[in-house]
Amino acid sequence: MLVATGSAFASTILLIPIVRAALFPLRSQDSDASWSDLGSVDNYNDLVSPSIQLMNITRPDGWQLSKASQSVYVVAGPGNRPRVLSSVCPHLGCTVQWRPEQDRFICPCHGGTYTPDGARISGPPARGMDELAIRVRDGHLYVRFQSFRQLIAAREPAE
Ligand code: FES
Repeated sequence: MLVATGSAFASTILLIPIVRAALFPLRSQDSDASWSDLGSVDNYNDLVSPSIQLMNITRPDGWQLSKASQSVYVVAGPGNRPRVLSSVCPHLGCTVQWRPEQDRFICPCHGGTYTPDGARISGPPARGMDELAIRVRDGHLYVRFQSFRQLIAAREPAE
């Protein structure tokens, strides 16, 4: 009886790191590491045109964390609250560029165009630019990058 109890206890203890490792990608999805600091939120008051920012993203890649850079656009939102748009074109994933002389976003790959707040104007994209989740902490604007499914009108997370 004592041996059986000890074996069960040891088995349970040994399972903990295995379960933690198996759940690692799920647990890290919404950790602080998934939010990138875009600097003081005051930098984005009274935006008159989109502001491109480079964010560092850390995300699970299997059982490891991989780091990458990603450009996003901070645009003026309602009530002077900034919004952040992904620069990834929802058509086939090219990087959308802000063209101030035309007062619109243009995708260089197939000519998709968007208004300064990311709404679709024309071209093959089935929807407007994708808005990313933001939060403000200690006066800083944080954004969480996310990929969305391409070629469809609905904004659905890809991962
Ligand atoms: Fe942007 Fe095709 S990838 S319009």
